[in-house]
Amino acid sequence: MCGIVGYVGRQSAVDILLEGLTNLEYRGYDSAGIAVNVEGLVELYKAEGKLQNLKDVVAQKRSHIEKSTIGIGHIRWATHGAPTTNNAHPHSCNCGKVAVVHNGIIENYKELREKLEKNGCTFRSQTDTETVAHLVASKYAQVKDLTEAVRLATKELEGAYALCVIHQDVKNTIVATRRNAPLLVGIGEGEYYLASDVPAIIQHTKKAMYINDNEIVTLTPDTMNYIDASKNVLQPKIEMLPWEPVALSKMGYKHFMLKEIHEQPDVVRNVLSGKLRAKDENIVLDEVTLDKETLKNLNRIQIVACGTSLHAAMIGKYIIEDFCGIAVDVEPSSEYIYRKTITDKNTLVIGVSQSGETADTITAVRQAKNNGSHILIVTNRPDSTMAREADSLIPVNAGIEVSVAATKSYMAQVISFYLLAIYMAEAKSGVGVDSLTSSDANWLNELKHELIVLPQKIEEVLAHKEDIQACAKKFSNSKDFIFIARGINFPTALEGALKLKEISYINATGYTAGELKHGPIAMLDESMPVLSVLMQGKVYEKILSNSEEAKARNARMIALTNSSDPKLNDLFEAIIRIPESNELISPILAIVPLQLLAYYIAEFLGKDVDQPRNLAKSVTVE
Ligand code: G6P
Repeated sequence: MCGIVGYVGRQSAVDILLEGLTNLEYRGYDSAGIAVNVEGLVELYKAEGKLQNLKDVVAQKRSHIEKSTIGIGHIRWATHGAPTTNNAHPHSCNCGKVAVVHNGIIENYKELREKLEKNGCTFRSQTDTETVAHLVASKYAQVKDLTEAVRLATKELEGAYALCVIHQDVKNTIVATRRNAPLLVGIGEGEYYLASDVPAIIQHTKKAMYINDNEIVTLTPDTMNYIDASKNVLQPKIEMLPWEPVALSKMGYKHFMLKEIHEQPDVVRNVLSGKLRAKDENIVLDEVTLDKETLKNLNRIQIVACGTSLHAAMIGKYIIEDFCGIAVDVEPSSEYIYRKTITDKNTLVIGVSQSGETADTITAVRQAKNNGSHILIVTNRPDSTMAREADSLIPVNAGIEVSVAATKSYMAQVISFYLLAIYMAEAKSGVGVDSLTSSDANWLNELKHELIVLPQKIEEVLAHKEDIQACAKKFSNSKDFIFIARGINFPTALEGALKLKEISYINATGYTAGELKHGPIAMLDESMPVLSVLMQGKVYEKILSNSEEAKARNARMIALTNSSDPKLNDLFEAIIRIPESNELISPILAIVPLQLLAYYIAEFLGKDVDQPRNLAKSVTVE
């Protein structure tokens, strides 16, 4: 949600900024802007709409703008004020000497704005960010030191922010700080970069330093001054970023989403690597630090997450309860944080997040941490804010996910839950809570074997993508879509529906098949496709009956199944087949065709698959 990039060095800044913003465009994309310093003057260039509009604005004055070797840039997902050019960042003060880009929300901006207006500041936007520009300008007028001006200004800010600030009178200098919003410094030779996320700078450097809350860095081409909020000088902790620039290329695929769907067999291999070595060896989760005492006393587990991660968490609930016999609650983080939660030191709280930066989930895990719970974070970003709250960590190793619609990260999260559930079952037996009988142990070994052979099965599903494409074409004109499933595949139905609505804007909803007749059946007629997730196992016959009920109301029936039963041909207008598997493993295979179905429908409809309207990859505001 919103992206920041900054550069100070000896190269022309403009292309570095625009390229950085391009690589962050998946985070938000309703307006964009840059601030540069050309021949001693701070200049702002902004445009509403997609980044290309800003690029067009810049192109008209390229030879002029190119002279700047310093700049800050921003790509916006609007929170305060419509996505207009005026509201686009950077924002400035009355005299135009200050430029500020900001991620997050300044919660007390109204009070600050009133105060600043009384002191003569004229506001040009409806944003919370503009208050920061005026505030820094007024502090600078008093102290004549940009770092100190930023430090004093942030003392008055409430809320979350990652900020980069330049000032016309302070040549070749960017001051940056953060609180509850990520920001990192990239280190080059005689140059520094700033970014809210790695993709903005990975093309230029892998050497970086993460800024922590309330710390301030002041960068010139040759110096980095790094202090805390009390002005103590800090030692930079420099690390090498574990990302490759190639992760940001589409590798010949039309969209990142399609590329990322196809990466899933390798993602599964990566997740399993080092953790599941052989079916008769225990699972190894190096960064899970649940000790014997905690495991023995564990009385419940709460999982908090949002969006697609929430659906992965729902599968987690199912298998942890099944394998370990511990009660698990799953709740959207945004609900969890506004009610009295019964949590104590015997509760394990699991936060699930692709980005590790989702504001509601961060708040939820912090709340649980304050109650003394052990915090386990399942994330694709071990470098994220959420990961830093963790007592235990499962890095899911999906690699950078660029498409806004999550696919491979979901796969990696779900696999991680299987590993965790088996790990906990084995660990609990190891500490004498529940001893595994030999049939339990054999059964777990069978599941481990199924996990090991999964990548080939996913490859098989992908090899039949043309069939799914044909099905997508057939149903692409539908206005609505219903997905039904039961048991462990109910989250599959929810996730399939979410994928479809996110990128095609078709009104798609997932229901437990048993609930269909308690209301949703009223919507069925010959125009309504109903996709049944029909996996062999204990609820197969039940879903088949529910599908018959839907068919009897003239719905257009689609089956996603691992059954080869020829009778299905009479009931279903279209059948998508996937390889056979244990019912408990089936959600991992079943989601792949649903991702492809959503992708192809959106593509037929000509939608912007990788950057669907109104969405952002990472939601860093509550
Ligand atoms: C946004 C994204 C979703 C994602 C959700 C949770 O809404 O568009 O794809 O599932 O945030 O994000 P997280 O990073 O916490 O998994």
